[in-house]
Amino acid sequence: MDTNVLTVAVLLLAGALALWGLFLMRNRMEQKPGSLLGIPHAMRPGSPDSTLEGPRLERIQVGGFLFTLVLAIFIPIYWLPEANRQAAFQERFDEESLERGELIFSAPPPLEEDPDPVEYKAEERAISLGMACANCHGGVDEDDPAASAGGGLANPAYVDPVTGAEIQYRAPPLNTVFQRWDEEVVRFTIERGRPGTPMAAWGVEYGGPMTTQMVDDVIAWLQSLPGNREDPNDAISESCREPAAGTSAERRCGEEIFQARCAVCHGPEGSGKEGLGTLADPWFQGKALWKGDVRGMDERQHFLTIMNGRRFAFMPQFGESPAQGTPVPTYPLTDAQIQAVMQYERGL
Ligand code: HEC
Ligand code: HEC
Repeated sequence: MDTNVLTVAVLLLAGALALWGLFLMRNRMEQKPGSLLGIPHAMRPGSPDSTLEGPRLERIQVGGFLFTLVLAIFIPIYWLPEANRQAAFQERFDEESLERGELIFSAPPPLEEDPDPVEYKAEERAISLGMACANCHGGVDEDDPAASAGGGLANPAYVDPVTGAEIQYRAPPLNTVFQRWDEEVVRFTIERGRPGTPMAAWGVEYGGPMTTQMVDDVIAWLQSLPGNREDPNDAISESCREPAAGTSAERRCGEEIFQARCAVCHGPEGSGKEGLGTLADPWFQGKALWKGDVRGMDERQHFLTIMNGRRFAFMPQFGESPAQGTPVPTYPLTDAQIQAVMQYERGL
């Protein structure tokens, strides 16, 4: 048994025994004539006023004073470290949440036929929590958290329900997902999945296996990865903050911005979902932006699409002040940068 539990049990028992002893002793001592004759308490003569209002009253008053003193000392002693105690609890909860989040993301160890109970006990948590996001989104690297969840191919390949063809889908890296999305969209995606892609609904309310706590845990773990706290605009050179329209700098910056901010979803060449869907040419989550596809939109529409995004079609907003009701992105692009990347896309 836990030694703490044992100590508390022994202390309680000792206290009870001491009180019981005291009770017995007092009973012995109280051999006054009244009790010897068997006269009930209520019918025995009471103490005179001189006793009740004299020494007895003083005893009660002193007792009360001492008790108040004890409370006055005990409560501050208990209360002063309370803030620290709560902070320590919070810290422990957060640490445990991260541990669980990592287990949830990882692939569970295989369940053996006749497992040794001790070994099974050690792996039980990993087996019950493991949701194997890592099978698609890239494994966990204990030594280098920055390399964890670095993306991969959806595994197994997606089978198109209409044509029956196997399509290799890119599962996006999640160690940078907070560079493109806020928590609302990440939670929405994990809980409800992305219908029509290999990303399944994981939330228990949507038929998946994960409770809200598990979703919280995996999000907390993702947020702890270094990439999710980095500014993706750091990869764009300083000279591309305000590229002038129509210059060669604008074309160069457009490509740079596209690689830093858009390629993860639209593919390095903007091939999006239009590629062959093979190992060499997998599908990305964004639309294809080449072969003139985007030129079907006029420039104003195109600009507003990048600025405001299409939140629940999973195209993020990039403007510094997107349309009302759309959250301001954590890492926005300037209007000139949006202009530059737009021109790059129209030239693909
Ligand atoms: C998180 C993934 C993601 C990122 C990052 C992303 N996009 Fe998209 N984008 C999408 C998706 C998904 C769509 C399709 C939306 C739809 O179905 O309407 C889309 C659509 C678009 C469209 C409209 C295409 C059309 O034919 O309707 C444009 C233009 C576009 N993105 C530009 C960009 C630019 C420029 C960037 C980088 C600054 C970017 N996107 C970054 C996912 C992304
Ligand atoms: C079978 C492969 C597979 C598994 C397993 C999987 N995902 Fe995904 N996930 C994908 C694919 C593919 C996409 C891109 C979907 C699209 O095209 O919009 C995706 C998208 C996402 C996104 C959105 C990324 C973005 O940039 O918009 C998040 C967040 C995510 N997954 C989290 C998870 C978590 C957490 C788990 C584990 C509980 C998980 N996924 C398990 C394949 C998978």
